[in-house]
Amino acid sequence: MGIQYASLFRPRELARGALLLACLALPLVGWAQHVRNEPILPIPRPTGLDPEKVALGQRLFFDTRLSRDQSISCVSCHRMALGGTDEHVPSLGVAGRKGGIKSPTVFNSDFNIAQFWDGRARDLHEQLDGPVHNPVEMDNDWPTIVHRLQADEAFRARFLEAYPQGINEAALKDALVQFERSLVTPDSPFDRWLKGDEKALSTEAREGYALFQSYGCVACHQGVNVGGNLFQRMGVMGDYFKDRGTPTTRADLGRFNVTGDEEDKFYFKVPSLRLVALQKRFFHDGSAATLDEAIQTMARYQLGRTIPPTDRARIMAFLRSLVGHHPLLPES
Ligand code: HEC
Ligand code: HEC
Repeated sequence: MGIQYASLFRPRELARGALLLACLALPLVGWAQHVRNEPILPIPRPTGLDPEKVALGQRLFFDTRLSRDQSISCVSCHRMALGGTDEHVPSLGVAGRKGGIKSPTVFNSDFNIAQFWDGRARDLHEQLDGPVHNPVEMDNDWPTIVHRLQADEAFRARFLEAYPQGINEAALKDALVQFERSLVTPDSPFDRWLKGDEKALSTEAREGYALFQSYGCVACHQGVNVGGNLFQRMGVMGDYFKDRGTPTTRADLGRFNVTGDEEDKFYFKVPSLRLVALQKRFFHDGSAATLDEAIQTMARYQLGRTIPPTDRARIMAFLRSLVGHHPLLPES
């Protein structure tokens, strides 16, 4: 292949990735003997969630009262039919205001190293103020939301059953996070194959997985989420932003906006590919309108390669085999 993957990673990122993998692997030790030794790990089922809190969080996720003009909810930009993403690029906020970036999936995001494309929120709790306060998203504040929901007699009574302290900012955030932690998609054909079910994976998908490894995709898209555990440059082997033909935006600067470190310009959290087969737009700028196009872009700019159509079809079959189950997903 002639590519030194080690040179793609700066030591700090590598250390972070290794640490995360180790942390994820530790609780798995008990049943690891039954799982194939592969760079991708099966999604564990969520544990320790309170079903009543999850249900409340789901209500909130679908509730337009969270936005200032009560026009949009979280699900407006994280559509279930699209694997928790959006077809609008950028996503549209209150009054049709445009943000600067495509919405990533909310599924399995608790497994990610950090939240947002540039990783500026450490976890799901920290992430929540983002969409609620952002003037081009919900343009709201927690006191307004608390006030509105407290005026809803039925909701207040139901909320009290799960949260004795009643409706306040901390409890609302907790319910939303509980729901987001439940957005996990186990038992995909690929995961069943990882756990030893030979018949779970089609020949085409298995060949696609072999290609995903031999071309080098797996160097960046790996672990439980087939991504989400490293920050990487968009355009390792070529100037993606110059070739794109549209001016570079602040959002394009990626991780640089968090660290201010020149070396972090154009670095993004490697996105999870778990539900990528359900998405309609690809990359932080939504520049690719089909999965096939996204694979071609990745081959060219991340690997300096061209991947022929037959191989791309196999890789797509592999990506489809990563789609697991959740009651809110289509065909689950
Ligand atoms: C107006 C559209 C919009 C709304 C409404 C919205 N989001 Fe988002 N969401 C986005 C965009 C765009 C991003 C990526 C922003 C970035 O990375 O800078 C994002 C990122 C996220 C992420 C990070 C995922 C990851 O892996 O990095 C989570 C989690 C999330 N949103 C949850 C929510 C929740 C919960 C709500 C409701 C309280 C919500 N979103 C409302 C558009 C939206
Ligand atoms: C050097 C690291 C690296 C390699 C190698 C790599 N990717 Fe990526 N991949 C990324 C990053 C970073 C992004 C996000 C780029 C952006 O949004 O601008 C991404 C995005 C994607 C997306 C879009 C996901 C989304 O939610 O929009 C797909 C699909 C994808 N990669 C597939 C592949 C495939 C298939 C290969 C192998 C042919 C591959 N990648 C190789 C780092 C990599």
